[in-house]
Amino acid sequence: MTKIITVGLGDRAYAIHVGKDLLAQAAALLQPFARGPVPVVTDRHVADIHLKRLLDAMAAAGLDARPIIMPPGEGSKSFAGLETLTSQLLDMEISRGGLIVAFGGGVIGDLTGFAAGVLKRGVAFAQVPTTLLAQVDSSVGGKTGINTRQGKNLVGMFHQPRLVIADTTLLSTLPRRELLAGYAEVVKYGALGDAAFFEWLEQNGPLALEGDSAAMVHAVAHSCQMKADIVARDEHEKGDRALLNLGHTFGHALEALTGYSDRMLHGEGVAIGMALAANLSVRLGLAPQEDAMRLVRHLKAVGLPSAISDIPGPRPDARSLMAAMGHDKKVADGKINFILLRGLGKAFVTANVPADALEDVLKV
Ligand code: NAD
Ligand code: GLY
Repeated sequence: MTKIITVGLGDRAYAIHVGKDLLAQAAALLQPFARGPVPVVTDRHVADIHLKRLLDAMAAAGLDARPIIMPPGEGSKSFAGLETLTSQLLDMEISRGGLIVAFGGGVIGDLTGFAAGVLKRGVAFAQVPTTLLAQVDSSVGGKTGINTRQGKNLVGMFHQPRLVIADTTLLSTLPRRELLAGYAEVVKYGALGDAAFFEWLEQNGPLALEGDSAAMVHAVAHSCQMKADIVARDEHEKGDRALLNLGHTFGHALEALTGYSDRMLHGEGVAIGMALAANLSVRLGLAPQEDAMRLVRHLKAVGLPSAISDIPGPRPDARSLMAAMGHDKKVADGKINFILLRGLGKAFVTANVPADALEDVLKV
């Protein structure tokens, strides 16, 4: 039941393989792209649980796999992490024609993709994502980068992978909270562009989260298909790709004000942000209230937060959130771009949001 999705980018087109127990086949899928030593970049958590199986499979296929293990967490997505990684890659004498494998969550994928992009002015890389967030979002589409003290993902580049292998079996070891945070991005696809998928998630999302592999494969593959279609239309986010940021303008501001800490994970911020975007759309008379209520109901049903008050600790206030939104990299010509809804599955981009309506929604 492996599904193969193509990201249609002409001579840079690539396949996303989604299925269970794919790690065993990963070596065969990587082989056509590999030349010389193949660095496998991962983090300590993933290494402890899953690395041996990937390395064994690669060795059995005759690949010269060389693990590089980074510390887990956002701290690795930094200039310091980039320096550590690139110098290890250079020590391995990776050639321009080589292949680097990112084996981990979004942190490892973003860092490795960026390192591959700048190393020797561009080396190929493959994504083998191990979190739900990475399987449905960060491993697809070629956004790579690191964080700086000014904010997240502010230094980076578009560098598309050659291949993505999403083995949903790897998700069984993911902490529940991380699984749910990734699921918020799955809900995002339904909310932004596919009401039928949203309805499918209402019925089957809980099953997927409880370990039903057919349901999870469908949820991941459908999300990847939607992202692939959008990226093929608008690789560099001049238009439609911005729809993928549904919930993110709010979410990034909440992340900034909660100090990018354990108080709120990125996907949790996206969940709350989507609910806020839906509430704002209702307040502006754009979307039916029932649609916003359905979105919140589903987020709550699976155990995701859906309101600012769901974040533990002191509540970020409306004015500070509005100021933080002004620092988002999606701000253009001093205007904040919002992704709002005309209903479930009908997202659009607008910079036309009255400050008082925004403030009201942030106070609820
Ligand atoms: P992450 O990479 O930090 O992984 C979360 C945690 O899960 C880590 O502790 C990791 O070690 C652990 N882990 C990973 N796989 C596991 C597994 N199978 N079993 C057990 N533990 C496992 O976080 P993430 O949520 O995957 O990614 C977040 C990052 O992705 C952020 O930096 C965000 O900016 C970025 N991102 C990028 C894009 C993009 O388009 N490039 C899109 C969305 C998010
Ligand atoms: N995660 C949003 C994008 O890839 O555009």
